[in-house]
Amino acid sequence: MTKPLLEINKLKVNFNTYYGLAKVLDLEHLFVEKGETFGLAGESGSGKSITALSIFNLLPCPPGEIESGEIFYNGENLLTKSEKEMRQIRGKKLSMIFQDPMSSLNPVFTVGEQIKRVIVHHDKVAKKQAEARALELFDLVKLPDPKNTMDKYPHELSGGMRQRVIIAMALSCGAEFLIADEPTRALDVTIQAGVLELIKEIKRETDLTMLFIANSLGVISEMCERVALLYAGQIVETGRVEDVFRNPLHPYTFALIEAVPKPSQKDKPLSVTGGFPPDPIKMPQGCRFNPRCPKAAELCINKKPIMTEVEKGHWVACHNWGGGI
Ligand SMILES: Nc1ncnc2c1ncn2[C@@H]1O[C@H](COP(=O)(O)OP(=O)(O)OP(=O)(O)O)[C@@H](O)[C@H]1O
Ligand SMILES: [Mg+2]
Repeated sequence: MTKPLLEINKLKVNFNTYYGLAKVLDLEHLFVEKGETFGLAGESGSGKSITALSIFNLLPCPPGEIESGEIFYNGENLLTKSEKEMRQIRGKKLSMIFQDPMSSLNPVFTVGEQIKRVIVHHDKVAKKQAEARALELFDLVKLPDPKNTMDKYPHELSGGMRQRVIIAMALSCGAEFLIADEPTRALDVTIQAGVLELIKEIKRETDLTMLFIANSLGVISEMCERVALLYAGQIVETGRVEDVFRNPLHPYTFALIEAVPKPSQKDKPLSVTGGFPPDPIKMPQGCRFNPRCPKAAELCINKKPIMTEVEKGHWVACHNWGGGI
């Protein structure tokens, strides 16, 4: 079997806060195969963006710190790279659509200037070639009247158009791996559907590999082949999307699926009724979900569950997945 394009092993990320050490991420194992779209889902604060920032080596340190772990991209551990080496990798190989669309665009330059600057910087091409490439990309992301749009400032574009510009910029350097951190969160539902369709189309036309972060299971099921569910910084279940939806094994996954009752509510943010995620400074012992779990038993309070493969490629970290301890 060939090695996955991205592989994370035993990654622990903490934040030093005024109140104490927040243990925000504890990823045992996660991998993304070349060409696939892998979904990362979980409630707000579960560690999705921190995972993305860790891969990108953009974690704010301090207050953040990587306690331990490895992130292999194409066999190379990104965590051992210097900032200079990382700058080469970002853009050329990895690209990212950040969660906050406005943070990716500078309000004082036209979007044309911004995308051309990225292209010139990465491809070392002349301005004229950059212009042609930018137009091509604006066309690819279906921005109406690409030539005219180039001269617009970010605030002159609608949310959906801005997001298309950001996608075009993320694709501008021909990166092979794209991390999309909730690329449609700030958009309303109809525009969201268009942007998701566009990402799918781009995926079909290129051999892009994607880590797709979403806090809606509907979006994950539409976009991804495999998924990992994060709870309080740990993966509680992972597998092929259809297996996880057909046969959810973790009470958290089960509750999340229950919480998405109708197709019309598929963009509803993930949340489970009953309790709140734990404070990362005081993570529960044993299974981190135990304070909210209807099935929690003594073992769940005392012992961290390890990942078990229940059906091919479908893993769960729960003492209770078989129905009874
Ligand atoms: N700079 C920081 N200092 C301290 N804690 C932080 C910092 N950034 C993130 N965290 C904490 O790390 C945890 C994970 O945050 P993260 O942004 O990854 O969540 P998320 O899953 O992306 O949530 P959302 O769906 O709201 O985007 C949270 O508990 C958050 O409070
Ligand atoms: Mg986030």
